[in-house]
Amino acid sequence: MATHKLLLLPGDGIGVEVMAEVKRLVAFLDKSGLAAFEIEEDLVGGSAYDAHGVAITDAAMDRAQAADAVIFGAVGGPKWADVPYAARPEAGLLRLRKELGLFANLRPAVCYPALADASSLKRELVEGLDIMIVRELTGGVYFGEPKEIVTLENGQKRAVDTQVYSTFEIERIARVAFELAKARRNKVTSSEKHNVMKSGVLWKQVVTALHKAEYPAVALEHMLADNCGMQLVRTPKQFDVIVCDNLFGDMLSDVAAMLTGSLGMLPSASLGAPDAKTGKRKAMYEPVHGSAPDIAGKGLANPIATLASVGMALRYSFGLSEAADRLDGAIASVLGQGLRTKDIAGPGTNAVSTTEMGTAIVEAMARG
Ligand code: NAD
Ligand code: IPM
Ligand code: MN
Repeated sequence: MATHKLLLLPGDGIGVEVMAEVKRLVAFLDKSGLAAFEIEEDLVGGSAYDAHGVAITDAAMDRAQAADAVIFGAVGGPKWADVPYAARPEAGLLRLRKELGLFANLRPAVCYPALADASSLKRELVEGLDIMIVRELTGGVYFGEPKEIVTLENGQKRAVDTQVYSTFEIERIARVAFELAKARRNKVTSSEKHNVMKSGVLWKQVVTALHKAEYPAVALEHMLADNCGMQLVRTPKQFDVIVCDNLFGDMLSDVAAMLTGSLGMLPSASLGAPDAKTGKRKAMYEPVHGSAPDIAGKGLANPIATLASVGMALRYSFGLSEAADRLDGAIASVLGQGLRTKDIAGPGTNAVSTTEMGTAIVEAMARG
């Protein structure tokens, strides 16, 4: 069996706690012969800043470039509120995404049957929910230049962020969305604000042209991003694949998270373009949530988003769909038995710790 090189970047806050459960899962996969891994670990975010004065070192970037997949925890926290902007924890994550070329961020929002009552929405609205948000990840207002705060002659300050998209960036992310839809329920909702933004006008044109030329059999609808946020909480099951820019994707995926019960349930895969020679994609897998400073260090974090992100790595990077299915089954079965971390436990329900949840999932996997 091929050995896969994994780089673990726990980061800060609950990133460290959920990564401990990843280590438990990976050790089990290794021991059981379901997968073989060579593991490295490094610092990112505030922890890297504390050790090295930067949010990620060049050496850690080299390791990420050399890995078959990176598993990322979470970064950030109030401790680093005053560090220089270029060294803020989040800059480490953005550098990884940009330099690895991870333009396609897949954020599946799936409501496990046992959690239909954990959502803030009514059971019938979310039961059976299975949405894929495809977020463009290396462009848009996150990276556009100029990006600055300038002081004007009158002493006022002026802050500028720039939303930029080119045809090829829109086309390649739309292609990912159409391809995913073909293997799902054959529908793509493209979300932008062409009524206000030039980048939205181009987005809509490019998606429409690609649809006409290459994917006419997939149902395509265009939906303004504000309406899309509203529709997600009104009738979420109308969606199959949603494709959108970097910023709208960030916001819509946090909204979609609550349809599944908790932000602690949402995994993600960030993928680059296939290598021309080997066909391999650079990839990083991470929960959608952040470092959750309000619960960090208390053993309260839900590890499922991160464990399910490893499941996406098994599927998308390593072709180990059997192991991925077993992990999904283990998560569903543990939830079915009523095990809940605090974020998905109803009022008055006993909650288990991060470690108890991680251990139970690995034990359920071991049972097969
Ligand atoms: P957050 O996602 O960290 O937390 C939002 C809320 O969700 C909090 O109440 C938190 O307790 C809860 N939550 C998040 N993950 C959870 C989990 N696994 N289990 C249980 N509850 C969970 O967002 P925030 O508070 O706005 O941001 C905190 C820091 O994290 C900021 O510095 C932000 O920049 C950073 N952040 C990092 C990432 C990342 O590393 N990928 C993502 C989002 C935010
Ligand atoms: C996410 C996060 C990041 C983003 C931050 C931490 C840079 O919110 O991955 O959703 O905005 O992309
Ligand atoms: Mn986010």
